[in-house]
Amino acid sequence: MLTDWRVSNEGVPGYRALADRLRLLVLDGRLPVDTVLPSERTLAEALQTSRTTTTSAYRLLRESGFAEGSQGAGTWTTLPRDSKLESPIWPEHLSGEAEPSGPNGDFSSAALEAPAELYPAYQAALAELPRFLPGNGYVTAGLPLLRERIAQQYTESGLPTTPEQILVTNGALQALHLVLDVVMERGDRVLVEHPTYPAAAQTIRDSGGRCVPLPIEDGWDIARMSTLLRQTGAHLAYLMIDFHNPTGRLMEESERRDLGAMIADTGCRIIVDETMRNLDLRTTLPAARAGKPAPAPLPMPRPLAAFAPAEHVITLGSASKTFWGGLRIGWIRASQPLIRRLALARGNEDLGGPLLEQLATAHLLENLTPIRLHRQQLLAERAVALHDALREQLPQWKVPMPQGGLSLWCQLPEPRSSHVAAAARAMGIWLTPGPRFGLDGAFESRIRLPFARPAQDLLPMTEVLAQAWHSRGRAHAFDDDMTTV
Ligand SMILES: Cc1ncc(COP(=O)(O)O)c(C=O)c1O
Repeated sequence: MLTDWRVSNEGVPGYRALADRLRLLVLDGRLPVDTVLPSERTLAEALQTSRTTTTSAYRLLRESGFAEGSQGAGTWTTLPRDSKLESPIWPEHLSGEAEPSGPNGDFSSAALEAPAELYPAYQAALAELPRFLPGNGYVTAGLPLLRERIAQQYTESGLPTTPEQILVTNGALQALHLVLDVVMERGDRVLVEHPTYPAAAQTIRDSGGRCVPLPIEDGWDIARMSTLLRQTGAHLAYLMIDFHNPTGRLMEESERRDLGAMIADTGCRIIVDETMRNLDLRTTLPAARAGKPAPAPLPMPRPLAAFAPAEHVITLGSASKTFWGGLRIGWIRASQPLIRRLALARGNEDLGGPLLEQLATAHLLENLTPIRLHRQQLLAERAVALHDALREQLPQWKVPMPQGGLSLWCQLPEPRSSHVAAAARAMGIWLTPGPRFGLDGAFESRIRLPFARPAQDLLPMTEVLAQAWHSRGRAHAFDDDMTTV
């Protein structure tokens, strides 16, 4: 986690640079509060620095409220009580209402506002609710009508599915949690793409799994995946091949075929998270860039489960990105026996999801095609606006265009992602530093920038981001000139 701790703080005394990096790790959640830090001597040896440097760094952390303890008793991480930076991972200020536009803004959430069809869907759901009120309201596996509509979507996308193969959950993340509870043993190794979706990696760790990184920035290498599975003894993987978060990549149909063959060969199990599947920008983005109307969408490759033995692929879906995060609706598609086991496990957890949201989602799925096309258009325009703003404000950054999804995965010319995130936060912008998407501190030269906000918000946010990038050395927690970050 301390790779490059010196590089991003050139010109700053070593102990301050070290304290600053540790502070950033606490603030963005990579070092949870109450983590016992290595002894001063051990850390000095590991970093090949002097004991004075580590001792002074820990003293500075204690003085600023980011650590407690003393020499002899050990040192552990804390958060300063009176700091406005107390919320390390989730911006606590998020109220659920529209975020302020202008230079204050949220570059940390990759999620859109609700589509126009959402409110009428709730109205229709409310009108239907009386039919359900004489019942007890518990539908642990999900409302049959919604299970049917979700199954129908899979069937239409080339993967025949029955409603009995669907379990409705409170979002894809809960779905992952449930699946891990049922198919994973504590201590199991789980292959995850590198970079990966941070909340998924955390869920795997919280469930007792050990994440093994599969590099995918140049695409999915199926042979390498097979080797890694064999070498690490892993028999489970979590993949996002239908617009990967954060890179926006899509796995082609021929690669899915190879992956399916590899799954049959090795007997491994894949949890495939299709949360972003409807956010295809392959035609809308180039058209928006050229200022032309988008041509017809390209066909999507069939879901991975169409290529592998039934028991080996567990598919997660979500209404959050296609429709709205506030619905809190996701689902699992798997074999019928596994869905039964998952529904039993779910009965011990929360007994089921809210009916109104399930009814509203069933209505939205009836309107999926126009909503999807509108989302794809909107996102393409916003992606181009952000891309242009970055090209102007931060021409040193390399910013490839994604195939789909909600974010740009930017390559910085130097490993300063955590530093920029902290500086930006001091200037009112929340963003997630690259290493949140990696294991063990990787991706310090990357930043994920969602283009979920309207262009008029993205432009001033990018200006602030550029100031944060150029604030080298100034946005330093313990700099004598700076009291807050
Ligand atoms: C890949 C991926 N999976 C799951 C989620 C969470 O989905 P949900 O809101 O359905 O829990 C997200 C949200 O960003 C995501 O990007």
